[in-house]
Amino acid sequence: MITPMADMDGKTAFITGGANGIGLGIARALVTAGANVVIADIRDDSLDEATAWLGADDRVEAVLLDVTDRDGFNDAADAAEARFGKVHMLIGNAGIGGPASEAAYDDWDWGLGVNLGGVVNGLVTFLPRIRAHGEGGQIVTTSSQSAMIPIPGSSIYTTAKAAILGMMESIRGELEADNIGVSAFLPGPVQTKIAQSGDLRPEEFRENSGYAQHERNLEKRPNSPLWMTIEEVGERVVAGIRSNDLYILTHPEFREGMETRFKAILASIPNEPVNTERAEAIGFLLSNPVFNETLGAKTGEGARPR
Ligand code: NAI
Repeated sequence: MITPMADMDGKTAFITGGANGIGLGIARALVTAGANVVIADIRDDSLDEATAWLGADDRVEAVLLDVTDRDGFNDAADAAEARFGKVHMLIGNAGIGGPASEAAYDDWDWGLGVNLGGVVNGLVTFLPRIRAHGEGGQIVTTSSQSAMIPIPGSSIYTTAKAAILGMMESIRGELEADNIGVSAFLPGPVQTKIAQSGDLRPEEFRENSGYAQHERNLEKRPNSPLWMTIEEVGERVVAGIRSNDLYILTHPEFREGMETRFKAILASIPNEPVNTERAEAIGFLLSNPVFNETLGAKTGEGARPR
């Protein structure tokens, strides 16, 4: 069993995309909770502003990082450890937007490179380091409600967000023995700068992009005051880390759509008798204890036999 990271004092979090939006909200909540934070971001100017906004200079480090740069990730991890000794929490949060109907390879490569590849790079960089210090830790990745209710017009984004949700569900059981908790964070709309992601498109992915118009349109999309604030989602993430929640959700408005999706999937199972011999042979594929464990923690229902 995991010992959840209830006490954040002296613990260190490394947050990608930590200089704006949700990552910055998480940084704020973690600093308030007593943790050290390293904010890693591709936007140099935002890093300075974010550091000033967070205050607590003695517990905040800013590093310039493009999450698609594997060597850079390693250097950033070294910098984090040079400053705070050990890193306990990896918050894989950096992300950009993007639909698919107009998409060219450049759009897929950039979108998946940041939203999925960036999370993979964080994991490969930090997991051995967290394991090595033996004090336990937490891996959190920012997925999205779009992983639960994929809607048209979001396919590159959703492809990555569904992938990292599956990644968290898969590795949670694996990392338990090392006392490393795992959480997938799936926010609904939050007031952030994500509509400005087009500014960050690297030169190499510009010429053949099918997205130029889309990105210009998106830039004009204002944040609604009805969307959640970064402070609120940050607090929800810290609460989720404290109880090692597998899923950290924010918006009850998505419940009905999620139920309908799950029902649609269940309704698509062939209406045929179960082959019990086959079921036994593939038993290891048919369930993951993390679901019953989560159900038990959230509803008190506890583990139900299959
Ligand atoms: P944001 O644009 O305000 O913040 C994202 C940060 O990531 C920025 O500071 C940006 O400079 C940084 N970033 C982008 N590409 C990077 C790269 N290659 N390397 C390092 N840093 C990079 O956007 P937001 O909304 O705060 O996004 C954070 C995460 O939340 C993303 O993964 C996004 O997909 C997810 N999300 C956002 C929602 C929203 O409503 N804003 C809803 C659901 C999920």
